[in-house]
Amino acid sequence: MNSTQIIYFRHLPMSVRVLFTMVLLTFGLAYVMATIQVWESHAGKDGDPMLSGKDLMIAYRGNPEGTKLETALRGPMSDMLPANKKKIVFDWLHDGAKPELIASTIQPIINEHCIACHSPEVNPHLPNLTTVEGIQAVAAQDTGMTIATLVRVSHIHLFSITFIFFIVGYIFTHAYVRPLWLKCVLIAAPFAVLITDVASWYLTKVWAGFAWVVIASGGVMGISFAAMWLISMWQLWFGHVPEAVAENEGRLPKLSVSESHG
Ligand code: HEC
Repeated sequence: MNSTQIIYFRHLPMSVRVLFTMVLLTFGLAYVMATIQVWESHAGKDGDPMLSGKDLMIAYRGNPEGTKLETALRGPMSDMLPANKKKIVFDWLHDGAKPELIASTIQPIINEHCIACHSPEVNPHLPNLTTVEGIQAVAAQDTGMTIATLVRVSHIHLFSITFIFFIVGYIFTHAYVRPLWLKCVLIAAPFAVLITDVASWYLTKVWAGFAWVVIASGGVMGISFAAMWLISMWQLWFGHVPEAVAENEGRLPKLSVSESHG
């Protein structure tokens, strides 16, 4: 394999290095935001504020002991109700969610605290809690994300993450990393775990243990991203030109005039 075909970061034209740097900075920020988003939408579903395998099992597979309503009130919706009213709702759920009690006990609470958001006029994408049927729907046993939702999220995920890692991986091809296999693993790993990640969302419905594969995949993706990001940034601006590259400089493709050694 002829590694001299690769143009080392410090030999790239200044304008290209500035472009790579700005792209990496923006992606770095985006990655932080994405991590916060995963945390916000999944952590705490099991009642414990940390993000855990159980949270993901509940998100993808549902909670056999629970209902969407209870899961939400113990997780993302927990600030929406005072404790005493939450207890009324939980007692009703644990007592079999009797429909005849909805109008007298449950609906007044929901009307006061929930329908400001959960009404079809305000937000057609949220469960409609203005009707008895709507309340019953979230009080039915929780089976997690539907296949339709998973398909929608997977195709967006597969397309968009491929773009991100194509760009970050392409930038990283200009890095000097030995052994070469390690460089290739860092480039390939995010794509491999993207596939295991998305596949595990579905498989978690069959066997809950796949939630751990979702977490491990996310971990490997984060490590590859961080490694490629840090190595690229360092070598773009601070790293020494390694001897192996410097020696072969004459054999590197000719670069356009004065910009090349900025
Ligand atoms: C300020 C707006 C707002 C209020 C008030 C609110 N919700 Fe929500 N609710 C949301 C949003 C946004 C989501 C979806 C995002 C999420 O899951 O975090 C949601 C999600 C839910 C879900 C989960 C739906 C699903 O498909 O898993 C349930 C159940 C729920 N809310 C019940 C309630 C109940 C009960 C109340 C009143 C005690 C309430 N919400 C009050 C905005 C609100």
